[in-house]
Amino acid sequence: MFQRNKNLFYGRRKGRRISLTNSKIFEHYSHKFYLQEEQIHKIKLNEHRKNILEIGFGNGDNLVHMSLNKPYDFFIGCDAYYNGCIKLLKQIVDKNINNVKIWPDDINLIMKKFKRNFFDLILILQPDPWQKKKHRRRRLIQQKFLDDISQILKNQGELIISTDHEEMKSWVLEQFHIRDDFKWMKNGYHYKNAKPEWIIDTKYTNKALKNNKVVNWFFFKKN
Ligand SMILES: C[S@@+](CC[C@H](N)C(=O)[O-])C[C@H]1O[C@@H](n2cnc3c(N)ncnc32)[C@H](O)[C@@H]1O
Repeated sequence: MFQRNKNLFYGRRKGRRISLTNSKIFEHYSHKFYLQEEQIHKIKLNEHRKNILEIGFGNGDNLVHMSLNKPYDFFIGCDAYYNGCIKLLKQIVDKNINNVKIWPDDINLIMKKFKRNFFDLILILQPDPWQKKKHRRRRLIQQKFLDDISQILKNQGELIISTDHEEMKSWVLEQFHIRDDFKWMKNGYHYKNAKPEWIIDTKYTNKALKNNKVVNWFFFKKN
């Protein structure tokens, strides 16, 4: 079985130059909202109504939406794309959000730092498909990754994955087919009926819908 190397992140880390305003926001607020590795084990299990993790939040719009609508829940957003993290940080500051923390790096670096059974819900919206056969190992959803997810998700906790990519749809099914710690609750091969109303269309979902692609939704529950 493929073991993911600890520091193996293949996606883009940086994009355009960060604006002066955003650099200042980073300077002033990153210490408050960016999660430090050594803080993770100190986060209390039952301090909030629910603990929710979004992996690969992109520009963070859905995280902002969820955190504003669920003020009693605690959110951790993770994305290794530096510019996306700063965009999210700006929204957090502008909208006075206080129930979100950002992990601005590869999720695999911190999976083992969380308490076991910590999260009620984990979201992975539109993971990178890494289409070429030789790049499959770069995909986020691998057996080792699911082993870690299984540790940090509560029993009966939910994992929601969406993708508009056909190959990724099969990949997700293959990865879960061989596991007995997750139960496939329902699937949605029709976008409009499947997306929970408390999740908003992300940048990649909007792009897919504009191109008349079907967005597939998978709902798994940990046994
Ligand atoms: C295709 S984009 C989707 C972004 C967003 N969820 C959306 O639907 O618009 C995938 C995102 O996952 C992030 N990502 C991929 N692998 C990751 C990892 N191992 N740790 C953290 N973020 C990751 C990428 O940086 C990228 O922003």
